Amino acid sequence: MTSAVRHSHRRHVMFSERIDRLQPSPIREILSVIDRPGMVSFAGGLPASETLPDWSGTASADVLQYGPSEGEPALRQVVSERLRSLGVDAPPERVMILGGSQQGIDLVAKLFIDRGTPVAVESPTYLAALQVFRLYGARFVDLDVLGENLARLAYVIPTFANPTGACASDAERDELARRCLSAGTVLFEDDPYRDLAYDDCDRRPVASRMSGGSWVYQGSFSKTFAPGLRLGYLAASAELFPRLVMLKQALDLHTSRLSQSIVLEAVTDPGWDARVEGLVRFYSSRRDAFESAMRRHLGDLAEWHTPRGGLFYWLRLNEHIDTRPLLAEAIRRNVAFMPGEEFFPNEPVLGTMRLNFSHASGDDADRGLATLAGLLRDRTR
Ligand SMILES: Cc1ncc(COP(=O)(O)O)c(C=O)c1O
Repeated sequence: MTSAVRHSHRRHVMFSERIDRLQPSPIREILSVIDRPGMVSFAGGLPASETLPDWSGTASADVLQYGPSEGEPALRQVVSERLRSLGVDAPPERVMILGGSQQGIDLVAKLFIDRGTPVAVESPTYLAALQVFRLYGARFVDLDVLGENLARLAYVIPTFANPTGACASDAERDELARRCLSAGTVLFEDDPYRDLAYDDCDRRPVASRMSGGSWVYQGSFSKTFAPGLRLGYLAASAELFPRLVMLKQALDLHTSRLSQSIVLEAVTDPGWDARVEGLVRFYSSRRDAFESAMRRHLGDLAEWHTPRGGLFYWLRLNEHIDTRPLLAEAIRRNVAFMPGEEFFPNEPVLGTMRLNFSHASGDDADRGLATLAGLLRDRTR
């Protein structure tokens, strides 16, 4: 077939109308360059490579067979116990194991969002959730006026938010649950960072305050164990759960049983709590070293709050320049960061940046921050 003929065939390919709203994920695009030798990456939420588990492969051959869409019963049981200990009404039969919590975002979006559906989000918020919600046609509205804007869904990251690192107070959590309940809005709480707490902070899930309302709560094993296994979980109120299971059936039948067996073995090992405590100590000292390096290099260029947990610093530059065009130049100088503008649902606030502090070693972080500071000085002079 000649290329001209092939071309004429392609012109007739028709996509669904939602594909007009499909945008590439800026973070996935940046991650594709971070393996380059010498690159310091503050861009993704990557765990430090040295914290990843050793794995010697003891799973039984059963895991090679098809399994249940809801997930392995033993793992659902463990997750249920954990969620119930946090006050979330999550019996094992309302827990589903996900192929990463990113998958939960897609399932929940499919369940609720049509073109123009009002979805309340924080501003800024997790950009890969915005990417999914946009694809399904969401119209982003303000969390503070749920009753007035008729939001069908409220997506929130109350504990060590991505990108800001903020942790909502007990009163703020109560207030959010109260607003969702009185407006009849479905709460969608995304909680992948809750175990990475370096300082005291109220962390009781908002979902535990939603008695009588509709809610989905989700968590992840990516930040405490291994993101490459793609393992997360959700629990939901009774009227939502069966529909989420049907969406999961339609999407991928079930999550990898090999990944589930590896995670089950890890989380039921007597050493699990010690592993998480070790991670918290490791990242807490990484955060402190990163903060000192930021004060040295960026102290006169930006301001920030010290995050009490999670993996990110959120910077507000003194000069309100758009940081998106700086990224290509930073990558040329072997530093990657996330332009903050990408995290806003509507109009972006300029002069913002998200820096991940968990992945780069102390020396690399120091070098990367010095480079970033040089770039900002060049731009703002
Ligand atoms: C807020 C938030 N939700 C979901 C995810 C996706 O995580 P997972 O690896 O479990 O898919 C991330 C990853 O960084 C995140 O920050």
